[in-house]
Amino acid sequence: MRIAIIGTGYVGLVSGACFSDFGHEVTCVDKDVSKIAALRHGIMPIYEPGLDMLVETNVRAGRLSFTDDLATAVKNVSAVFIAVGTPSRRGDGHADLSYVFAAAREVAAALDGPAVIVNKSTVPVGTGDEVERIVSEIAPDKGITVASNPEFLREGAALSDFKRPDRVIVGAEDEPTRSVLAAIYRPLSLNQSSALVFTSRRTAELIKYAANAFLATKVAFINEIADLCEVVGADVQGVSRGIGMDNRIGRKFLHAGPGFGGSCFPKDTLALLKTADDNDSPLRIVEATVAANESRKRAMGRKIIRAMGGRVRGKTVGLLGLTFKPDTDDMRDSPAIPIIRALQDAGAIVRAHDPEGMEQAKTMLSDVDFAADPYAVADGADALVIVTEWDAFRALDLKRIAALLATPTLVDLRNVYPAREAVAAGLEYVGVGIGDFESRPFVKMADPVA
Ligand code: UDX
Repeated sequence: MRIAIIGTGYVGLVSGACFSDFGHEVTCVDKDVSKIAALRHGIMPIYEPGLDMLVETNVRAGRLSFTDDLATAVKNVSAVFIAVGTPSRRGDGHADLSYVFAAAREVAAALDGPAVIVNKSTVPVGTGDEVERIVSEIAPDKGITVASNPEFLREGAALSDFKRPDRVIVGAEDEPTRSVLAAIYRPLSLNQSSALVFTSRRTAELIKYAANAFLATKVAFINEIADLCEVVGADVQGVSRGIGMDNRIGRKFLHAGPGFGGSCFPKDTLALLKTADDNDSPLRIVEATVAANESRKRAMGRKIIRAMGGRVRGKTVGLLGLTFKPDTDDMRDSPAIPIIRALQDAGAIVRAHDPEGMEQAKTMLSDVDFAADPYAVADGADALVIVTEWDAFRALDLKRIAALLATPTLVDLRNVYPAREAVAAGLEYVGVGIGDFESRPFVKMADPVA
């Protein structure tokens, strides 16, 4: 089938590459001429493992192309996916839909026959209805319908998430529209991994927000349990394992850390709260999730300062990892940013290394020394802090780190290393949610009920 995709961000580019790999003929469109020129030369605008190869293979096979000319790209297509950004609107947290509506207008005007406009961007409930209204104004007689097909791929695992999804959600209001989407996703059922779920458009739109809010809540929940573990002398990793083995809870997204970040969870939870507010239907649990996560990031800064004896003025803190998670160069809403601010506000000198995120980080952070590798970060520093669990930080020579550090303190905000291993290497170890009961003999037990 012939498909056009508007927007070559994470979702658009990965979808385009994967759809073309399924055998469809795909044109990816972006207004950013330099981005298109780079893509035509095989240069990816984002770091995503395997993406460059997939793009190259499909471009060479003639199934994938890039253009800034939307009008030509949508000629004779069965579907146009809108995958443009929906950033948080300044000031009120609402998703900014101006790019979505602008794309819908252009597509409706340029289409030369019946086609489905598919919203892949994460958009609030009712956006599909608004797109339909726009289409009916601009092109009432072209036979254009509107569907919602939210994308659940994770950065860093985007290709496998797209090709082997837990489910594909399609919100459509009529049978012909559903059958176009079914045909586009048919190659997944040949992989025996298709779980195509058809719902109404509004339901599909809400599924995306509800899924992200639920996952964000899981992370915020285990992070607060981690805090409690530290106080009562328990181990959050044991708690995660113990509760995660209950199938109703599930093992994933129970890894305690410095708080969630990235381009989706923070933005989508806020947008969902706005929808709840606008409709006078409170989501108190999501509110608590957002608040807990917000305060957690700076609290991590205070945790590091405590681990360094309470005063960091003039001391050097070495940070390993800046991106919001491994295998991405994405710095958006990374916990590293408020952590660094908290340390700098307390007078610390910050040195850092990240395998892929340093270019972006340089544009967002000031007064940070960037080092070439983890050992250069540790050299002479007063503490080393693991902020992001990159594979490259999982097998460090801890003895060497201990020798390089001026004060051998390791603050492991992702619990990468077992405390025992770090202590054996000569480090003072502080993890997340790892309470040391022995050193807290005064933890009060509740009085037994007589
Ligand atoms: C997320 C959703 O997973 C994806 O389905 C959606 O389409 C977009 O948003 P992404 O933002 O790429 O994907 O990252 P994800 O792997 O979900 O991690 C989100 C954040 O939660 C990261 O900051 C990560 O470090 C944090 N996290 C995740 C934890 O702290 N602990 C966990 O156990 C899991």
